[in-house]
Amino acid sequence: MERCETAISRSANTVWQHSAITQDQREYRNGHRAAVVWLTGLSGSGKSTLALGLEARLFQLGCNVYVCDGDNIRHGLCGDLGFSPEDRAENIRRVSEVAKLLSDSGLIVITAFISPYRAERERARQRIFPGSFIEVYCRCPLHVCEDRDVKGLYRRARTGEIHDFTGISAPYEVPEHPELVVDTHLFSIEACVNRILEYLVDRSLIFTGPAECNLGAGI
Ligand code: ADX
Repeated sequence: MERCETAISRSANTVWQHSAITQDQREYRNGHRAAVVWLTGLSGSGKSTLALGLEARLFQLGCNVYVCDGDNIRHGLCGDLGFSPEDRAENIRRVSEVAKLLSDSGLIVITAFISPYRAERERARQRIFPGSFIEVYCRCPLHVCEDRDVKGLYRRARTGEIHDFTGISAPYEVPEHPELVVDTHLFSIEACVNRILEYLVDRSLIFTGPAECNLGAGI
């Protein structure tokens, strides 16, 4: 995949500027690979809690890591978007581009978006360097999310006050081939975080040994 491919191109007469610093050099300095951990699942399935838990653990391990959370991004960058299929697609397109920029800078990016459509998640994957996009399905039955109803949104969706609500009046397309599935209703957040960390170590995206061993042999 060409790293400088553009998703849309209404900007004519622009030329990609290549940095003199390579991805390998950035990753070597960071002591870990760049990656995008893409959490997807229903509202209330634990994405944000898991994202923040994973961020904290990776940070403790000395990784450069950042969370992009759906609710937060919709306060700024995507504040002009609603929840129609088109707006959700645009939301995920913008977030994919942000995730791409941040991962190009060497970060481990954790995204927490419902991202209900397979096609949009696939587009996000295509923007990220192969092997560095880890789709994690936060699996949790609708009735559990609805019982939790942390933000009171399911109740309002059931009464019809909120339209196009994922799982109630808008679809969620279950991932077919995610890198990982975590059952957030069956396991603790800590166990789910550990499962993702294990995956990152197995794929040599992060290293948990002494700092001096980090990446020295890998690059
Ligand atoms: S996405 O579908 O475009 O990926 P995103 O993750 O950014 O959604 O935002 C989801 C958050 O917006 C939910 O956690 C919830 O707090 C809030 N929200 C408000 N309206 C809706 C809706 N109609 N459907 C789903 N979530 C909604």
